[in-house]
Amino acid sequence: EVETEIEDYAFSFEGPFGSFDQMQLQRGLQVYTEICSACHGLELVAFRNLHDEGGPGLPEDQMRAYAEFYEVFDQSLFDGEGDFRPATPADKFPSSSLSNAPDLSLMAKARAGFHGPAGTGINQLVKGMGGAEYIASLMTGYHEEPECAADANMDGQYNVAFAAGGFPASCIDEHGHHMVPGSWISMSQPLYGDDVEYADGHSTDLEHVAQDVAAFLMWTAEPKMMARKQAGLTGVLFLTVLTVLLYLTNKRLWAPHK
Ligand code: HEM
Repeated sequence: EVETEIEDYAFSFEGPFGSFDQMQLQRGLQVYTEICSACHGLELVAFRNLHDEGGPGLPEDQMRAYAEFYEVFDQSLFDGEGDFRPATPADKFPSSSLSNAPDLSLMAKARAGFHGPAGTGINQLVKGMGGAEYIASLMTGYHEEPECAADANMDGQYNVAFAAGGFPASCIDEHGHHMVPGSWISMSQPLYGDDVEYADGHSTDLEHVAQDVAAFLMWTAEPKMMARKQAGLTGVLFLTVLTVLLYLTNKRLWAPHK
């Protein structure tokens, strides 16, 4: 198993009462738009979703303006010959333009940040699945190549959060253990800090920008998270009340026989 270094960031949407931070989702959308979308796609997300409650919550006119900024190919135009037109709220984000860059719609749920210990997954009960933590840590996980790889001529860049990439034999010891965490990734470092200018004055340090885009991708992967938690809470409250009533009923029923 490849060791990785995943930071346990405190996201606003964690825990049973956590909720998405609308401003953070808007900042993350900006980072996605200005940087990630050069290579990646979000083909499962429709522009109109940017206006949904519990998400970035763009006002309707802003959401429409955002959509129009994209061009989509529409086969129904020109009597079936097709042509490009500005996107409408019903269209989806384009898919990845770089063939080996995966679509990011569901990435925050496709990856886990925390595993173990010893394959038990107990860490996930305590810290959560860590999909957003994984993405933020991937953004901040680029490091200089370790010394053991000096002569290895690796493809890609060394990243301590990435498990699935290439790894040089010169960094594996005689027992077969990896001497350094992570592996080599074919995405060059996308964020360095101060990559964007935020309208809300929020910090643009690498750590903050990384968390913003990770939070946004958590929303794309689970856009109904707020509704799910709300329903869960209602259910638990309801069951609690029912438990009390049943307890009292039970007492009442058996009272004459005791
Ligand atoms: C892979 C996020 C920008 C090219 C990935 C993965 C994530 C990600 C989560 C999947 C890693 C995995 O499989 O576990 C982002 C974010 C970006 C960004 C949040 C913006 C801040 C870019 C850009 C490019 C790019 C600008 C192209 C220049 C790639 C490629 C891979 C990848 C080629 C596949 C890497 C591999 O499997 O070795 N990215 N990315 N990404 N990304 Fe990005």
